[in-house]
Amino acid sequence: MAMKLSMSLVYLDNAATSFPKPESVYQALDRFARTALANPGRAGHKMALQAEQELDTGRHLLNQLFHGQGPERFVFTLNCTDSLNMALKGVLREGDHVITTDLEHNSVSRPLRAMELSGFITVTRVASDRDGLIDPDAVAEAITGKTRLVAMTHASNVLGTIQPVAEIGKIARQHDLLFLVDAAQTAGAVPIDVQAMFIDLLAFPGHKGLFGPTGTGALYVGPRARLRPWREGGTGGDSSSPTQPAELPYFLEGGTPNVLGVAGLNAGIRFVMERGPDELRRHEVALTDQLAEGLGELGCRVFGCRDAARRVGTLSFRTETMAAGDLAAILDAEFQIAVRPGLHCAPYIHKAQGTFPDGTVRVSPGPFNTAADIERLLGALKQILA
Ligand SMILES: Cc1ncc(COP(=O)(O)O)c(C=O)c1O
Repeated sequence: MAMKLSMSLVYLDNAATSFPKPESVYQALDRFARTALANPGRAGHKMALQAEQELDTGRHLLNQLFHGQGPERFVFTLNCTDSLNMALKGVLREGDHVITTDLEHNSVSRPLRAMELSGFITVTRVASDRDGLIDPDAVAEAITGKTRLVAMTHASNVLGTIQPVAEIGKIARQHDLLFLVDAAQTAGAVPIDVQAMFIDLLAFPGHKGLFGPTGTGALYVGPRARLRPWREGGTGGDSSSPTQPAELPYFLEGGTPNVLGVAGLNAGIRFVMERGPDELRRHEVALTDQLAEGLGELGCRVFGCRDAARRVGTLSFRTETMAAGDLAAILDAEFQIAVRPGLHCAPYIHKAQGTFPDGTVRVSPGPFNTAADIERLLGALKQILA
């Protein structure tokens, strides 16, 4: 028992939120909280201006990272769910048809399903293939005269499969549709160019692959997208107008923003820019390849595409002998290894893969995990499954 307690934690749940953060993120949070944690405002005192400057810096960094059409087009949110809701509820109108996929997280599929059930919109859910890939031709075939939006994930949070978003974006643009991409699993891990990929709306969290703290996220709003604000209020600027100011980002950013979170996020984005998304992804994919090989030897079934070029570092597996939840609970309690079992908020892809309702065990390493961590996980699984 004493030995178990002294074991260090192996955290392999970076698809949910990244941990640990780079040291520079902790330093930025501490520094900002002690010196500049005022309510940002464009017409305020020096400390308020400093806080506003931090938000501005963040928007510039994001604009550079994702090749946006202006820093003001990056609207800070609470998380990716917040960004997706802002986009979906902001652009859809009564009678619209939306094309989505069976790979989606509930933060896309639930708002769409609720609008569909109320008769507000209609939805087509395109099915992925066995590897978890969406065929761009299937998206093209689903377009109707009422289609207004294609809303889809950039990479599956269950299978890790990277989707051909540039091809699908091109089809959407040719048909004058809006294209919303959920980059929860790719922002920071896969290069994203919103202009080259024809992305009108890019939703992403700050707390996963961009290494900010929880409570951070953003929505990129391209020039073709016209949104209704779903949150109105103070913006730290001109208070005389009876309605929300028309200009971005303030149009969509009512209320005191998480400026402390953004200070940490800015350090996280700089970390990503220094390392480069490709290098970060390669490291994580190499660790999941090592894991997949060991899992095969243990007789576990690994899901999703095995082509390293088409995956982020997220792997799902299961065994015939033990429920995913039980396996993950033992790994946590007995071996200090944090993984994520279940449906991962993505029930449709688990149904498609035949893993509903028990789900799979999901393993998602980050930049600070090592081959030794994967060996420890494989050793623990060997003991549990023996
Ligand atoms: C593909 C996908 N979309 C959306 C989300 C929601 O992100 P957040 O937790 O930041 O709201 C997640 C979270 O795991 C995700 O994996």
